[in-house]
Amino acid sequence: MKILITGGAGFVGSHLADKLHNEGHEITIIDDLSTGRYQNVAHLEGKEGFRLIIDTVLNEKLMEELIRETDRVFHMASAVGVKLIMEHPVKTIETIFRGTDVVLGFCSRYRKRVLIPSTSEVYGKGASIPFREEDDLLTGSTDKHRWAYACAKTLDEFLALAHWKETRLPVAVVRLFNTVGPRQTGQYGMVVPNFVKSAIKNEPITVHGDGSQSRCFGHVLDVVEGLTKVIETPECFGQVINLGNSEEVTIKGLAEKAIEMTGSTSEIRYIPYSEAYGEGFEDMQRRVPSLDKAKRIIGYEPTRTLEKIINDVAEQFREEVKSETANA
Ligand SMILES: NC(=O)c1ccc[n+]([C@@H]2O[C@H](COP(=O)([O-])OP(=O)(O)OC[C@H]3O[C@@H](n4cnc5c(N)ncnc54)[C@H](O)[C@@H]3O)[C@@H](O)[C@H]2O)c1
Repeated sequence: MKILITGGAGFVGSHLADKLHNEGHEITIIDDLSTGRYQNVAHLEGKEGFRLIIDTVLNEKLMEELIRETDRVFHMASAVGVKLIMEHPVKTIETIFRGTDVVLGFCSRYRKRVLIPSTSEVYGKGASIPFREEDDLLTGSTDKHRWAYACAKTLDEFLALAHWKETRLPVAVVRLFNTVGPRQTGQYGMVVPNFVKSAIKNEPITVHGDGSQSRCFGHVLDVVEGLTKVIETPECFGQVINLGNSEEVTIKGLAEKAIEMTGSTSEIRYIPYSEAYGEGFEDMQRRVPSLDKAKRIIGYEPTRTLEKIINDVAEQFREEVKSETANA
């Protein structure tokens, strides 16, 4: 099959490209390398059935060509993460919403299967744990800009479901909970790569707030398996489905585990959210997915633990630190 992965040089998209290319599919990636890295897909370049196009999903003429000739679209391109949204508020909203609008518009015209990733951020301050797909979404006021990410992604969801309702476009929305693993950079505030990298370098690990807030981390390889099943399961069209892992850990606990598992001497430092993100920043205490729907429809059951995640990420960073030292 021909498969188009927008944002395929990014963290999740590049793992998706590996899996689908290994299975014998023809992969085209379009990525503007804004947060993605060429290194994530360098090993695929030159292989038969792989093509990398460096351009933006906002290039409508090109997107029309690419979508017309493909069988499946995974629209992974997006401005990602709360830190980026805080730093580039206009561009991020535009990329998220206009990008998805372009993709859905052409998928609708040419009747292509498409997967739209959303985020657990859309649950906002929801307090009923675990988060279920049919729950109310509770975000903060518009002067607290961190909510722009959640709201832009929510609008993407509405648009995807509207295409399904009006013309039965085969589109599925997947709400990803914290997805982690090798290739994720810590640059945009992602907690696991930051902690593990600091631990390996024996540098202080910075925790925002008191560290009692908890999260659930899904291994990217589990998530990618889920994504590929979703697009091949017609029952998923017109649906919103959580994907991730429901094993919960506090951020303080994560820092301690990273230290313990890497044999590090790092200390943990606690800083207020206001120091990290400016005044008025709001964070959620807990965020746990209900994976019942994913299990029921696609048989999704993540198998990779937090220990496996930390080991895999640590292995990647040890390699990087080794080559940084060798090049110094
Ligand atoms: N990783 C997570 O924990 C997580 C959680 C929730 C949702 N998601 C969603 O999953 C998707 C992939 O996220 P990721 O973690 O791989 O992030 P990522 O930043 O590694 O990947 C996004 C990719 O999109 C590319 N991109 C951005 N704007 C583009 C544009 N205009 N045109 C072409 N390419 C563009 C970036 O260069 C990058 O390669 C995103 O939609 C994100 O919102 C991820």
